[in-house]
Amino acid sequence: MTRIKVNVDGMTYEDDVEPRLLLAHYLRDRLGLTGTPIGCDTSNCGACTVDLDGMSVKSCSVLTVQADGGEVTTVEGLAVGGEWTALQRAFHERHGLQCGYCTPGMIMAARDLLRENPHPTSDEIRQALEGNLCRCTGYQNIVRAVLAASAQDQQVGEEVTA
Ligand code: FES
Ligand code: FES
Repeated sequence: MTRIKVNVDGMTYEDDVEPRLLLAHYLRDRLGLTGTPIGCDTSNCGACTVDLDGMSVKSCSVLTVQADGGEVTTVEGLAVGGEWTALQRAFHERHGLQCGYCTPGMIMAARDLLRENPHPTSDEIRQALEGNLCRCTGYQNIVRAVLAASAQDQQVGEEVTA
C-alpha cells in the first residue's frame, strides 16, 4: 500500500492505496464520485475524463499514486453552489446528450479545450473531442453546445478556470 494525499473537487483526501489502483476506480469506488463513468477501461472512450493539475486526463489510464499531491476536478466539482457552469448549461440547452454516459467526459474535455482556446471552430472542437466517443448523438449537438458555451466567452472563461 502507498499513502497518498490528493485534493478532489476541493476536498483533501489521505488514503492508503494499492500502487496498481486506477484513478477512475479510486474516484468511483473509494470516494463514491460515480459521476465519472467508466466506459471501456482501456483509454479508448473518454467517458472517465477528469482534470488533473490543469490537464484533462482519462482517469482509467492514470494510476492513483500519480495523482499524489495533485488536484483533481471531476464533473461533480464544476457546479458552484448548485449552479451549473455555462458549458454544462449549453449541453443541456443544445441537447448535447441523449443517454448521458459520455457527457461527463465530453464536458471535461470541452472545458479543457475552452481553457486553451476560448473560441474554437467546429473543426477544432471535433479534433479536441476526438478521444471522446458518443454512441447516441452523432456529435452534432455536442459541437453546437461547445460553440454556444464559447459564445458566452466572458462567463465561460471565468467558469472553466474556476
Ligand atoms: Fe477511460 Fe473509456 S473508461 S477511456
Ligand atoms: Fe449516449 Fe453520448 S449521449 S453515449
